[in-house]
Amino acid sequence: MKMTGCRKKKMAKPTYEELENKVRVLEQRVGHLHLLEKELRSLETQFSLVEKQLRQRQRMDSLGTLAQGVAHDFNNILSGIMAYLNILSLTDDNFSPSQKTYVRNIVNSVKRGAATVKQFQNLSNRAVSPKENIDIYTVAQEVFLLLDKTTDKLIEKKLDIEKGQVFVCADINEIHQVFMNLATNAVHAIEAKGLKKGDRIRLSVHAETRKGSHLQYLSKGEYYEILFEDTGIGMPEDVLRKAFDPLFTTKTGPENTGQGLGLAMVKDIITKRHEGYIEVDSSPGRGTVFHIFLPKADDACGLEEPPAVIQGGTETILIVDDDLSVRESLQRALEDFGYRILLAGDGEEGLARFKENARAVNLVLLDMIMPKMPGRELLKQMLKIDPDVKVIISSGHDEGHFEDPILKSAKDYLKKPFEINALEKAIRQVLDQKGCPA
Ligand SMILES: Nc1ncnc2c1ncn2[C@@H]1O[C@H](COP(=O)(O)OP(=O)(O)OP(=O)(O)O)[C@@H](O)[C@H]1O
Ligand SMILES: [Mg+2]
Repeated sequence: MKMTGCRKKKMAKPTYEELENKVRVLEQRVGHLHLLEKELRSLETQFSLVEKQLRQRQRMDSLGTLAQGVAHDFNNILSGIMAYLNILSLTDDNFSPSQKTYVRNIVNSVKRGAATVKQFQNLSNRAVSPKENIDIYTVAQEVFLLLDKTTDKLIEKKLDIEKGQVFVCADINEIHQVFMNLATNAVHAIEAKGLKKGDRIRLSVHAETRKGSHLQYLSKGEYYEILFEDTGIGMPEDVLRKAFDPLFTTKTGPENTGQGLGLAMVKDIITKRHEGYIEVDSSPGRGTVFHIFLPKADDACGLEEPPAVIQGGTETILIVDDDLSVRESLQRALEDFGYRILLAGDGEEGLARFKENARAVNLVLLDMIMPKMPGRELLKQMLKIDPDVKVIISSGHDEGHFEDPILKSAKDYLKKPFEINALEKAIRQVLDQKGCPA
């Protein structure tokens, strides 16, 4: 018999303790596996959440691009209307007091239209808004009056604040939009539940302001807490969780189709534009209360600018804008102030006009998005001909003009739609600027 040289060792029988130890080690491993499995599941959930957010983000991005296009066209339309309205109000001596009021009301409506456009732009973070000292009562009353006229009388509209009581530092148009969106939702919620006697929409404000530093989500200054309540259908947990998400809506019926943008805008305005906070308390059958925290107006807010004095002038201004109504209305208004106006409907035409009149043109009012040659390219070409050319950019977008070296050479920037007084002031300032000494 051949020996292999390695003798098989006889395995000693494990002791009871050894077995117990092994079992303990195995148990620990199983425990670890469970933990790993749990972690994996939670990672999976997080991943699907991120994926969902990403998809939502992509939808928002394309919505943002679409909104930018609509906003651009709409701003041009509003610019035309605003310019004509300004002409009307400058020559309103023959108007009766009520006609003057009508014109003022239309101006306000146009401003609201511009604010709505701005909101779309805000959603993709492109516009900035000026804040002022506003009386919440004034804005809320306007919304409640409108509600009263347009909704069932059975819904009680209760504005539980006094005039001159609550002043916040905010953009009046944006706050108007906030209340309008909340009011529209409130009416829908009451209708969805089935309108009954005793239904109401109520706006009230906590008399005491709260220190931002005492609230975990707010940092500085003092805040008012505004409550916007309704006795509507209320929100179940799953709706409540998503209510502020962009594009989330439960209004998918044929009569009432929602876009799911109302509360997303409200949240954007309150938290991003006003450094405030909004939360909602709601459950089915109990109605809904939105708590809105807005900064109390302090001395630094709402310092009004003195009314502009129109100086006018006799210089030559080249207006380059692809929108006919903008060109014509601006021409009319600026000619009334004494200026000589040249017009061009696109970048190429603008360049031709500029070349023909290079010595005569004192200032160029330049649109950015135009066919054939965009405003930026035209500006570049004009700078080659005259490095000191005085240009005011007038555009519906914030073009990133602070970073772009070509756009930075413009002397001023006006966001459409603007008031003629603002344009005239900018024109005068630019024309009166002294050139750099040689
Ligand atoms: N006051 C409310 N009562 C009950 N549910 C509400 C209330 N406000 C909002 N919701 C719920 O939150 C969802 C999102 O509201 P949001 O205002 O963002 O969009 P929408 O009203 O559906 O559409 P849009 O405002 O774009 O027309 C609504 O579809 C609704 O289900
Ligand atoms: Mg809504």
